[in-house]
Amino acid sequence: MPYYSGDLIEEVISQNDIVEVISEYVNLKKSGRNYMGLCPFHREKTPSFCVSMDKQIFKCFGCSEGGNVISFIMKVENIDFWEAVEMLAERANIDTSRYEVASSYNNKSAQESKDIKDTLFKLNKDVAVFYRNNLMELLKEDNNDVKSYIMQRKLDMKTITKFGIGYATGKEPLYDYLLRLGYTKEEMLQSGIILQSSNGKYYDRFYSRIIFPIFDIRDRVLAFGGRAFSAKVLDKTIPKYVNSPENDIYHKGKTLYLMNFAKREKLDNIIIVEGYMDAIALQKFGFSNAVASLGTALTENQARLIKKYTDNVIIGYDQDEAGQGATMRGLDILASHGLKVKVLKLDRDDVKDPDEYLNKYGAERLKKCIDNAISLVEFKVSILEKHLDLNDFDSKVKFLTGVANILSKIDNNIERELYIDKISQKYGMSPGPILKEVEKGLKKNSSDDVVIDMQSLGKKMQLITNVRKRQEQYIIALLLSKKKNVQDKIIENIKSSDIENEDVRKIYDFILSLRDNYDINKIDILSKIHDEDMIKEITDIMYIDISGYEEKLLQDVLKNKKKEKLIIRRDEILKRLGEDVTKDESDILKLELNQIIIELSKLK
Ligand code: CTP
Ligand code: MN
Repeated sequence: MPYYSGDLIEEVISQNDIVEVISEYVNLKKSGRNYMGLCPFHREKTPSFCVSMDKQIFKCFGCSEGGNVISFIMKVENIDFWEAVEMLAERANIDTSRYEVASSYNNKSAQESKDIKDTLFKLNKDVAVFYRNNLMELLKEDNNDVKSYIMQRKLDMKTITKFGIGYATGKEPLYDYLLRLGYTKEEMLQSGIILQSSNGKYYDRFYSRIIFPIFDIRDRVLAFGGRAFSAKVLDKTIPKYVNSPENDIYHKGKTLYLMNFAKREKLDNIIIVEGYMDAIALQKFGFSNAVASLGTALTENQARLIKKYTDNVIIGYDQDEAGQGATMRGLDILASHGLKVKVLKLDRDDVKDPDEYLNKYGAERLKKCIDNAISLVEFKVSILEKHLDLNDFDSKVKFLTGVANILSKIDNNIERELYIDKISQKYGMSPGPILKEVEKGLKKNSSDDVVIDMQSLGKKMQLITNVRKRQEQYIIALLLSKKKNVQDKIIENIKSSDIENEDVRKIYDFILSLRDNYDINKIDILSKIHDEDMIKEITDIMYIDISGYEEKLLQDVLKNKKKEKLIIRRDEILKRLGEDVTKDESDILKLELNQIIIELSKLK
């Protein structure tokens, strides 16, 4: 791709009306000054996706995606920044050749980062081919360690080919191979596959390991996992798995292993498991809806990724304590994204994960377990049961209260009553007492100032920080107001270090740095930002409508900041006065304190 001047971006934005472009993908309805529709980035039944004609931006108030017309195309088409610019240029019949430049002076960093990514993808692909060929050679031989391990794990040729499984022979071969292909040492190190030892030698991170390439949803190789199988794993002198580190293209929490294969099918639900081998075994046995989170805690990003394809998830984590803890945490994240979650319980306890189960008991029997997957509530109750001895009276009372606590969190009345029936039957208890306890719990949940449990404390803290954050967001809103005198006042009076919220501070710094090179009232600031989280934050702010209130808001913001500073100083003085101070110092401090109190009362 040629380098383009930054003017092309402005041209593309002005020639592609965001409402028109998005209408090609989303059914938009006018609502006041905005257009609303169903968000294309997460599943929803009522519209929370909002396009602003005036501001030429979009924002989903459900999943928080947002941006300008370029960011929209990047996301919806899953393409890079400059690819999106080219696509929109073509749509508007803009002659891009007029904007080509020899070397980009304007958006160099964006272009460079794209070049780095392209190189990493290409390198990963070459590495995957290399590893796979190694394995193929070894499988042709009569007998060797690798071959017998592959057979033992029941990996047949079809599976190996489909999932690109390979083998990293020794420490040096990969490095030599990549040199021959013309990759630089920096590129190799950046990929994280090649490491440099303390004596300066370059070597393969994955040597002597079975290799599993990790793909993105477009089938590109993002990273690798390598499993060791020598005796050293058993005596724990080396880790069982080694994985690529994160880099420009690989972000662990944003990927789900084998999602690229799962998404090809029509998905009623997705089964999410812990390990490489679990996902592979499931897919091999026909459960093409299996993906793996690769042993890490589920993230919000992964929940969003799943939500794009289905509303139903089954968690099939290991059956041990660790796996159950992870299930518990995963449940809440997934549920909070509106996913219906069930938990897979294997009906045999001599195996620990789906891979072992499949190899021992077969697909048909696993299918039954999947069909019988239990709900979130049942799972929580079963965990409770496990930790209590229900023959003992005290424990039985504890169990009852615990169950009531879980049930009182269910919003739906009918659902709650169904569970009370089900549980009382299963545990041979009469439903009456459970119902009573649940009702107690419900009352407690609904009254505001009952004993603050950890969760509601967390929420309150959230509220306080949100209010403070809102105040700081106004600073940015004012900076973007295009009123020069307001902007100048903000910059004059607010230092970056005055801003407490990190996300807001990042944007503040960014806009100030932009001012060194551009007139920020003339450029499209959004297209200068390439960090997704920053785009989400700034589109949030852009939706705050302050027009007509700029002066008033400015006064408020400055007053609040001044107040904050005075309060900090006041508390410092009070603290100091409580310590051992000389009379002289104490007098001076008291004088200052007096002054502060007067000023504070004026600010009220
Ligand atoms: N894992 C890891 N590093 C480790 C151990 C585990 O990254 N040292 C990740 C891997 O993605 C692994 C997953 O956590 O697949 C689950 O770990 P575990 O249950 O121990 O392994 P299995 O997937 O069952 O692997 P195998 O069947 O090969 O023993
Ligand atoms: Mn396993």
